[in-house]
Amino acid sequence: MWFMLLSGKIWGGTVSIVTVFSTSVWFFSSEWSSARTVSTAEPSRRRSLAASTVTVTVFSATPRSGSSIDQTVCRRLSWVMDALSFRNPLLRSEKDSESDWRAPMTPASGVMTTFGFSGSRIVSVRIQKVPRAANPIRANQRAFLRCIGVSFLRKFALSSIMGPRRIFKRNRPDGASVRRKAAEKRGGGHSGLAVARRNCYSEVIIDLFEISNISRMIEVAAMLRNKRVLLGVTGGIAAYKSAELVRALVKREASVKVVMTKSATEFLTPLTLQTLSGNPVYTELFTLVREADIAHVSLAEEAEIAVVAPATANCIGKLASGIADDLLGAVLMATKAPVLVCPAMNTGMYQNRIVQENMEKLGRHGFAFLEPASGELACKSVGVGRLPEIEDIVEEMETLLTPKDLSGCRILVTAGPTRERLDPVRFITNPSSGKMGYALARMARRRGAEVTLVSGPSALAPPRGVRIVSVTSAMEMHDAVTERFADADVVIKAAAVADYRPAEPSGSKIKKGKETLMLRLERNPDIIAALGKKKGRKILVGFAMETEDLLARARRKMKDKNMDLIVANDLSRAGAGFEGDTNIITLIDRDGGLQELPLMDKKDAADRILDRIRAYVRT
Ligand SMILES: Cc1cc2nc3c(=O)[nH]c(=O)nc-3n(C[C@H](O)[C@H](O)[C@H](O)COP(=O)(O)O)c2cc1C
Repeated sequence: MWFMLLSGKIWGGTVSIVTVFSTSVWFFSSEWSSARTVSTAEPSRRRSLAASTVTVTVFSATPRSGSSIDQTVCRRLSWVMDALSFRNPLLRSEKDSESDWRAPMTPASGVMTTFGFSGSRIVSVRIQKVPRAANPIRANQRAFLRCIGVSFLRKFALSSIMGPRRIFKRNRPDGASVRRKAAEKRGGGHSGLAVARRNCYSEVIIDLFEISNISRMIEVAAMLRNKRVLLGVTGGIAAYKSAELVRALVKREASVKVVMTKSATEFLTPLTLQTLSGNPVYTELFTLVREADIAHVSLAEEAEIAVVAPATANCIGKLASGIADDLLGAVLMATKAPVLVCPAMNTGMYQNRIVQENMEKLGRHGFAFLEPASGELACKSVGVGRLPEIEDIVEEMETLLTPKDLSGCRILVTAGPTRERLDPVRFITNPSSGKMGYALARMARRRGAEVTLVSGPSALAPPRGVRIVSVTSAMEMHDAVTERFADADVVIKAAAVADYRPAEPSGSKIKKGKETLMLRLERNPDIIAALGKKKGRKILVGFAMETEDLLARARRKMKDKNMDLIVANDLSRAGAGFEGDTNIITLIDRDGGLQELPLMDKKDAADRILDRIRAYVRT
């Protein structure tokens, strides 16, 4: 059983050809990633494939016209949605309406449905039809699914598309010919909705795959997936929060092993963390993990990242002094994995010079620290010393694991909407949430860039480690960006800046009076055009949101404003644009390269944009 992904350069992009079991079905996708050959025979690759974007193509063998087949497949897909319990709100709402599902259909083109998974989420949906002749019937697809590690849950979902009869046939060694015969026997002579539906049901065949830029998706957007994490829990009052941390890590598909100090077990039982992690919890130095494995050595060696949360002053002091008189101390001393220490203690303890010196010393020796948060502490005082939010700990772990391919690069990102005041209580704005720009800032920081985020009003929490500049109006955005332009190597303008502002904003609240109210608007400065004129060797990236004629307009905009890369998104497509967690983008570069990406999480989209920027930074 084999599977190959071959890539070759064509027109500046890369065309990937996926061939499965020597059948005649190829999947083509244009990529900018470098040429590579991947074989699922390697176990590590297999894991990557399982966790990457997998596009499943559902072919209809029967070229029936119209809605009955479409509706049935739509229904099947909505069952799949249920089965996979998507976290993607947009797709959930699509699922609720069959007409939405059918919206992107192009009946003339032949195929039926393509949708892509990223982890347990569906990230792309495309609906097409194929004529019967083009239907790539073949056996062993389930075996293939197993080979690339498609999980039980997904198999279940797939079987809900295929139906029990289909699975039964598929499991037979001669499944392909049985199916073909059945299809031939049926012919095209059925009538009536029920029959049409049944035929469609049994004719739906699942084809697989596409792996798009797997390594980056895995390495960056989901760094903790399949990672072996060692969590050290020490005897602070925040020990109870480690239960939440275990859950967050397990949710990201990390394999978590917990080591608790003796004091930690006074605050929380090992049973709790054992249950949540699904692994034994270790507390004793003088026990063997497996028959002859010394606990601290094997735990230290197998960890890919270690995190101590909460870390007591005592634990930090012992580490800084090289004391390894308990299991956690010995493991942390022996491991080669990166270690993130999350101190949590009373403010007085935290600010004690000795504790500070211990942390400085550990920092010099390569330990990473996450500053505690400020707020009300367990001892009822207010100050610094709280364990940071679990999301922040996880983000820091992801950052530690991310290759720093943008280090040394100074990136200025703009995000969010602007507000143009009409009077003290009213303004003109747009629905931008800032999610795309914030995702860009977060991912760039993870990849080692020094990031400044100039943000219009947004409800989002500022990404960690990013310098934030808050602005309100387009004029403020203009000034903030212009001021910082000289210090940036890359500028990404993801903000939705108002083109116009009220010419005469009122100093007092405009009273309700006449039936109509005329507003005179004047142009705001075109920030990106101004930057384009003086950009020199800097890299300028813009966004184009259009409802029609997207690509032509985006190209024109890029050329007119002297950008290096433009990210085009079609606002008329479900899943793209403002507010949602997903986007559908097309990257167009100054050299004429074009990369269409499927529906994906904004974090993944940000990552792909940064991949492209990185290529420019390096040239
Ligand atoms: C109720 C209580 C709460 C404590 N909370 C903390 C704390 O938040 N941070 C800390 O550094 N020590 C705290 N301590 C002190 C530690 O438990 C003590 O230093 C212990 O020796 C730490 O052991 P360990 O580092 O091996 O886990 C607390 C002690 C008690 C009794």
